[in-house]
Amino acid sequence: MNNKVVLIGLGGHAKVILAMAKEKKISIDAIATRDFNPEKEFCGIPLISDEELTKYPIENTSLINGIGAIPNQSNHKEIFLSFRSLGFSFLTLISDHAWVDESVTLKEGSIVMAGAIVQASTVIAENVIVNTGAIIDHDCYIGSHTHICPGVTVCGGVSISENVFIGAGSVIIPNLEIGSDSMIAAGCTIYKSVSDWSKIVSTASMRIM
Ligand SMILES: CC(C)(COP(=O)(O)OP(=O)(O)OC[C@H]1O[C@@H](n2cnc3c(N)ncnc32)[C@H](O)[C@@H]1OP(=O)(O)O)[C@@H](O)C(=O)NCCC(=O)NCCS
Repeated sequence: MNNKVVLIGLGGHAKVILAMAKEKKISIDAIATRDFNPEKEFCGIPLISDEELTKYPIENTSLINGIGAIPNQSNHKEIFLSFRSLGFSFLTLISDHAWVDESVTLKEGSIVMAGAIVQASTVIAENVIVNTGAIIDHDCYIGSHTHICPGVTVCGGVSISENVFIGAGSVIIPNLEIGSDSMIAAGCTIYKSVSDWSKIVSTASMRIM
């Protein structure tokens, strides 16, 4: 039996993944969405419900997590864990327009979008999003379910725990640790390590040295 590929989600993040799949000539057989309507399709791809997806043959179905990871607004982590606990596996994708060094480890379900750069000896755990144009330098660790938003710069030797959100354009200076379940707003410069469950909204300061 041929392997089927099902994309979960139909929001903005899923649309960017659809474009990446097209670029990589990965054919998407169905899109699973909560706004399921059997009459409807998207770009010629049939829509199915999550329940219908659970009836697909596990050994012949690969999933792509197209649910974005926005704190308190999405279930990116839960979708991955629930379908994995049923036995499904997730595709790991790297855009043809990203640079990922050959020494990088990228685990199941992680996705590196166009324009992103991931440098030597970095380890990216499961279900991570390295979004458009983000840079992760050498020897970093990125924990499961974390979202590195567009245009973020993670300098060398940084360790980011699981389920962290780093907002667009933020910069993490070298060798810091970012605790699990933390949220860093767009445009922050992080210059000290932060503990688990931190919420950093502004780091704006100007000190003349
Ligand atoms: C931090 C964030 C989640 C807050 O969202 P929110 O809870 O809706 O908060 P609000 O927009 O009501 O803002 C609350 C306060 O924080 C300030 N604020 C919000 N975001 C900020 C930011 N990135 N930098 C500095 N201040 C910020 C607001 O000015 C406001 O200040 P005030 O109370 O003095 O008026 C959001 O602004 C953010 O940065 N999201 C990340 C977006 C992103 O990177 N998306 C990528 C998707 S791919």
